Amino acid sequence: MIKKIKIICDDVEHNLEIKDDKTILEIALENDIDAPYSCQGGICSTCLAKITKGTVEMDNNQILTDDEIDDGYILSCQSRPTSNEIEVNYDEI
Ligand code: FES
Repeated sequence: MIKKIKIICDDVEHNLEIKDDKTILEIALENDIDAPYSCQGGICSTCLAKITKGTVEMDNNQILTDDEIDDGYILSCQSRPTSNEIEVNYDEI
C-alpha cells in the first residue's frame, strides 16, 4: 500500500509517497533530505523528530520517555510509518 509522507526539514516541505516498510530516516536520506543522524541504532537521539500527523512504530528506543513519545517525539532512525498519511518535522524539536 502506498503511504504519503511529508517531511519538514530546514524549513522545506518534502511531500513523498512510499511503498516499502522503511524507517523515516531511510526515506529522508534516499530523497536527499539533509536529516540529522549519527548512530542509526536508537542510542544517540541525533535523529530526533516530531510527528505532527499519523503514527509510527519504533524498532528500538532506549532514550525517549513515555511522555516524550506522547508529545510526538520519535527517533526517526527507528520509526516506521504505521498510518497511511504521516507528517514528520525535524525543525520542531
Ligand atoms: S541516529 Fe542515533 S538514535 Fe537515531
